[in-house]
Amino acid sequence: MKLFVANWKMHKTRASARAFAEELGREVGGGTGGVELALAPSYPLLDAARDPQGRWALACQNVAAEAEGAYTGEVSAAMAADAGCAYAIVGHSERRRLFGEDGPVLARKIARCREAGLVPIYCIGETAEERDAGLTATTLVRQLDALVGDAPSRPLVVAYEPVWAIGSGRSASAEDCGAALVHVAEILSDRRDLRLLYGGSVTPENARSLLAAPRTDGFLIGGASLSATSFAAIARA
Ligand code: PGA
Repeated sequence: MKLFVANWKMHKTRASARAFAEELGREVGGGTGGVELALAPSYPLLDAARDPQGRWALACQNVAAEAEGAYTGEVSAAMAADAGCAYAIVGHSERRRLFGEDGPVLARKIARCREAGLVPIYCIGETAEERDAGLTATTLVRQLDALVGDAPSRPLVVAYEPVWAIGSGRSASAEDCGAALVHVAEILSDRRDLRLLYGGSVTPENARSLLAAPRTDGFLIGGASLSATSFAAIARA
């Protein structure tokens, strides 16, 4: 089933999250038409973003690499699961770039997700410099290393998000998106339950052509997911 995940990043209040949920409920009506939706708000907004009718799932944007203990300011995967999350975004490029997260720490976060029963949405993607240097494939292979210890039988979502496409208004072409996802699918060919998302400046306008790219099972959406109307329009594509 196609999966559309709204990554709200550090936006919204409880009131605006509630208003979003009400509007999305009106957009979706009785059902999501055979696609799966998930909202990834900041932790304090999880309750406000929840759908009492269960038409969309909840995701968190990050989890701690440790299970429990004296880690002031951290939120564990078990806490996120307890708060109702089904998914956790792990390794978003903003976490990698601004908070210095990479391979070993991300492998630990994935392990914590597994212990807590959260499905990781593991993000990978090359920077503009890596792309210009012809290092896209090498970068993706290196980033996928964090999955080496993860059992192939577990459900997994991988989001290909070229760093240069995130928040830039310049999405990857359907060809580039498809090529990257086909490569990822080959590397992860032992996975039994794998969904591959694209992320980076997805809009209602480009959603249909990107979704037609080979191996594309949905999107991780930032800016365009802040409005319920445009998030729903993307999911309808
Ligand atoms: P964007 O963000 O849709 O605003 O480019 C995507 C993301 O960061 O997940």
